[in-house]
Amino acid sequence: MKGIVFTEFLDLVEEKFGLEMVDTIISQSELESEGVYTAVGTYKFSEMLQLLQHLSARTNIKIDDLLLVYAEHFFGVLKDSYPGLLVTYKDPIEMLASIENHIHVEVRKIYPDAELPTFEVLEKSDNSLVMIYKSSRAMHHFGLGLMNKTFEHFNSTATIELEKIKEDGTEVKFLINKN
Ligand code: HEM
Repeated sequence: MKGIVFTEFLDLVEEKFGLEMVDTIISQSELESEGVYTAVGTYKFSEMLQLLQHLSARTNIKIDDLLLVYAEHFFGVLKDSYPGLLVTYKDPIEMLASIENHIHVEVRKIYPDAELPTFEVLEKSDNSLVMIYKSSRAMHHFGLGLMNKTFEHFNSTATIELEKIKEDGTEVKFLINKN
């Protein structure tokens, strides 16, 4: 997992819960990195999982809800860091349908070692999209947060339903309907 995902996460934890919480979740976790991350470095996903588990235990907020809020913050980071990727799009459905074949393809050119999910488009119309998310990291709620912000970016909203295909969340169907 790329360092930018860790640095932005810890910044948000500090903003929402304070520096003491950052220190606590780092010291409770067993981190090869010792909790020192640089944006372009690459670290084990298990480090993120431990940080999330400890934050969840401390705050009583479910990991999925933490990932959702974090993704909404991360969208702003992506927008500021890679504005060129977003200007190509005029419509949220078009943008989301292009994650697999365009957006994440470009991400892989920048970070060859990025750990990205796959999104397979099953059905697409002007106002709806059905996609299958697959990733061993089960970060479907991170995807959900990015999708919510994608619609907001285009001054739009959507109703998005998740259907787990695999109980562990490594395969999830997204049913997206523009409001
Ligand atoms: C992960 C870039 C848009 C879904 C990531 C990561 C980067 C990235 C750098 C982390 C990879 C790693 O840690 O190794 C971008 C950029 C985007 C974009 C630059 C647009 C400008 C989206 C959108 C979605 C999405 C719109 C919507 C669903 C995900 C998910 C992950 C991810 C779910 C977590 C990894 C996983 O589930 O395995 N993306 N992304 N991304 N991205 Fe994107």
